[in-house]
Amino acid sequence: MNTVTLIRGDGIGPEITEAAITVVEAAGANIKWEEVSAGENALEEYDTPVPRQAIDSLKRNGVGLKGPLTTPVGSGFRSVNVALRKELDLYANLRPAKTYPGIATPFEDVDLVVVRENTEDLYAGVEHMVGDDAAESIKIITRKASERICHFAFHYAQNDNRKKVTAVHKANIMKLTDGLFLETARRVAEEYPDIEFEDRIVDNMAMQLVLKPWQFDVMVMPNLYGDILSDLCAGLVGGLGIVPGANIGEATALFEPVHGSAPKYAGQNRANPAAMIMAAVLMLGYIGENEPARKIEAALAELIAEGKAVTPDLGGSAGTSEMAKALAELVS
Ligand code: NAI
Repeated sequence: MNTVTLIRGDGIGPEITEAAITVVEAAGANIKWEEVSAGENALEEYDTPVPRQAIDSLKRNGVGLKGPLTTPVGSGFRSVNVALRKELDLYANLRPAKTYPGIATPFEDVDLVVVRENTEDLYAGVEHMVGDDAAESIKIITRKASERICHFAFHYAQNDNRKKVTAVHKANIMKLTDGLFLETARRVAEEYPDIEFEDRIVDNMAMQLVLKPWQFDVMVMPNLYGDILSDLCAGLVGGLGIVPGANIGEATALFEPVHGSAPKYAGQNRANPAAMIMAAVLMLGYIGENEPARKIEAALAELIAEGKAVTPDLGGSAGTSEMAKALAELVS
């Protein structure tokens, strides 16, 4: 039996986490939860939004499921989520984006995965003022980080039966930084002859994704392009309501919905739990609980297509807990 660290999170986090627990348990997954706090709700007890106890639990169990976290103003953290990723060296951000019948989208049959490098690039926030009227931000790309993210993308493609990896870059302009990323991607690709490889310049990639998304499969890219294109892909499949994400390192993987804590809906039993439930599906796949994962994803697709026992943003009139109950019935 796997022990999974559970962080309920802030805002709508507790409600959507409860929904995910209900569905995962109904599907018969062989796991045990170890609950810890992080985020705004942890401040009172631990005096920090990133308590040692949460980090230790994640390190010990190697896998976690978390609700969205609010970064408290004045806590000294730019982002609690980024702090967690740094502390655990979760270097790969994985964002699958898939269409489901019943959610209005510009295209049908989109099934894409963005693999984003999580630790460097302009996103590392190394910036400073140069006098009063100029500011500089430093873009860092290393061979080591590029290699491990590219290997991650190819491994993922192999394990998920995918056919192609596209490296995304701007090496025509940033010849040294993105050039190093591209050169590394090309070299790593040679080790995976069973997976097709191509590269695209990021601006062209953005256009191609909104014109013909089905050209692509797994995409791997540095941090900032990944930040932007993964949201573009979420938009292609109907927005943040259903999209899960994973942050994965050598020893630990943390699964979460892509959306935030939506404070305006907190405690109202109307938040859409689908992205959190899909995060649990990804987590179950990661630990080898494939049958419960498959059952939950199929049930969610069925419920969304039917459009009744789903939350208002998915066109239904159910509350968070009613949607969870309907799913639990379908999977048990
Ligand atoms: P948000 O994703 O919480 O909300 C954006 C919009 O989508 C809002 O209108 C919200 O009500 C709606 N929404 C989001 N999730 C929903 C759901 N499951 N069901 C129904 N409606 C939903 O983003 P926002 O407002 O920028 O951030 C709010 C807080 O969340 C901030 O403190 C931010 O730092 C945090 N955040 C945390 C993330 C994480 O833990 N991974 C990711 C993004 C934001």
